[in-house]
Amino acid sequence: MKIRIAGVLLLLTGMTVANAQQPINLIPQPVDVQPQRGTFTLTKTATIGYDQPKAQAAADMMAQKLNAPTGFGLRPKAGTKASIQFDLNETPNPKLGKEGYTLDASSKGVTITANEPAGLFYGMQSLLQLLPKEIESKTPAQSSWTIPAVRITDYPRFGWRGIMLDVSRHFFPKDDVKRYIDELARLKFNTFHWHLTDDQGWRIEIKSLPKLTEVGAWRVQRAGHFGNRLDPKPGEAASYGGFYTQNDIKEIIKYAQDRNVTIVPEIDVPGHSMAALAAYPELSCTKTPVSVDPGTAFSEWYGNGTFKMLVENTLNPSDEKVYEFLDKVFTEVAALFPNQYIHVGGDECYKGYWAQDPGCQALMKQLNIRHVEDLQGYFMNRVEKILKAKGKKLLGWDEILEGGISPEATVMSWRGIKGGIEAAHLGHDVVMTPTTFAYLDYQQGDNDPPIYATLRTKKSYSFEPVPDGVDAKYILGGQANLWTEQIPTLRYAEYMTYPRGWALADVYWSPKETKNWDKFVPRMEAHFDRADIAQVNYSRAVYDAIVRTSMKNGKLTLTLESEVPNLDIYYSIDDTMPDAFSTKYSQPVELPDGPITLRVITYRAGKPIGHLIVLSRDALQKRAGR
Ligand code: ACM
Repeated sequence: MKIRIAGVLLLLTGMTVANAQQPINLIPQPVDVQPQRGTFTLTKTATIGYDQPKAQAAADMMAQKLNAPTGFGLRPKAGTKASIQFDLNETPNPKLGKEGYTLDASSKGVTITANEPAGLFYGMQSLLQLLPKEIESKTPAQSSWTIPAVRITDYPRFGWRGIMLDVSRHFFPKDDVKRYIDELARLKFNTFHWHLTDDQGWRIEIKSLPKLTEVGAWRVQRAGHFGNRLDPKPGEAASYGGFYTQNDIKEIIKYAQDRNVTIVPEIDVPGHSMAALAAYPELSCTKTPVSVDPGTAFSEWYGNGTFKMLVENTLNPSDEKVYEFLDKVFTEVAALFPNQYIHVGGDECYKGYWAQDPGCQALMKQLNIRHVEDLQGYFMNRVEKILKAKGKKLLGWDEILEGGISPEATVMSWRGIKGGIEAAHLGHDVVMTPTTFAYLDYQQGDNDPPIYATLRTKKSYSFEPVPDGVDAKYILGGQANLWTEQIPTLRYAEYMTYPRGWALADVYWSPKETKNWDKFVPRMEAHFDRADIAQVNYSRAVYDAIVRTSMKNGKLTLTLESEVPNLDIYYSIDDTMPDAFSTKYSQPVELPDGPITLRVITYRAGKPIGHLIVLSRDALQKRAGR
């Protein structure tokens, strides 16, 4: 009896140890994960196989990923009995769809099956995440190369899982774009929205309109915060910028296709067009020569969504030359990109110059339009006709709803989710990418350089892309947007993308029912360790205290919280540096009057873990009631 109990205990302890050594920390969280007894260890005698030619690409990529850190020199072979086996289902498994897969790992080996190569690619990504973190190393590393036995069945919740990169506000060279796409593909994102044009640079070669890149891709070199940078000086050389040749673009499209990523190009019109107008000023209403904007204060924002452009950055909707220009642009864009969608922007278009323009006034009369805003509808419908003639579908920011657009147009909801709700009710397909959950340019905590707003990882994680009362069939999926006004390098683009990009990978892939922030945190932390080895940058703002204030009975009241559970929060208001011997936060605190400064720091298990957050009374006062 005793012996049997001891045996059972040993077994249980053994299992706990095995699990404790190697917990399963996948991002995104798969649909179903069934841990099994045992482990599989990859050695140099391992084999990689594929059952048919269409499965070879996944096997080849697997070998490439494994060989760099292990140094094993594995070479895939056609066949069915390898220790890492990639098989395509003869009869499709309807549950898996186009992108799903099963992964079966036992002590004997690993089999990944799918209906399509995309599923094998995703099974491969899950297998890589099951391996120890050293697998992320680009150079030979030491590890056990052991994975826990497990059965996984997995497929995405949404077909559209996107990330947008703005390459206009800062130019990202070809190899940076590839690296960014590779990182996204590993998180099972399948759509790369490429914001190629804006006021600060035109980045795509259009052979029939060479000045777009000769002039429009270059601006004067400037430092300082976007929106406050110094104006170009007369005669100053435009030395900052760059663009992608059509060959570069073909190369990137192929690179993305190999990773199951579709590219959606965006040509942002009729607003956000100053770079195009720097090249062809005759396309504006005033026809005034302009420079590519280096991030000056050319716009005024009034806080309620209204704004004014002090420099004209819109195309003239009443000029036929504009549509001839757009036809040339979209002819070349449509020929380059195989994707059915072309994003035509439509956001933040200032109509003030249209209102003053005799041509626009005459057009309004002719169309029997009373509001200048409705000219945007006319413009977008013309653009949609151009795209249709080239076999493409129009996609635009939610402003395209304002002037009226055909029901076939797809709407990207960015000003919250209300545009998406309205669009879905009108029968449009919708991609959800609201500022409130999905804007990766927003700061992640109080220690980040300030920009428009703050968006914490926990908030991104809490996003539900299908609003109540909306038919889910209209919600194609969701996206995260990385605007780069304040992001000059890929390294910083990574910092802003992760961990929020991991949170949104879960939101767009994983079943709603599996969502649980407390369970996401250890997965996120495991990915911090992996990112360190992969040399991918990320923010640690999740460890910083969340500082809130409110006015209660005329007193400023402080509430502190941690985003990651089980942190200890210490603070001071006496101009001392806080540590684990300072006041420990436990409940809301009434702050004394006077010019105090709050300093807050978080600890975990006796060690400081978050940044020191310093806020003046003014800053605390400002956030009261927010
Ligand atoms: C946008 O953020 N202007 C779409």
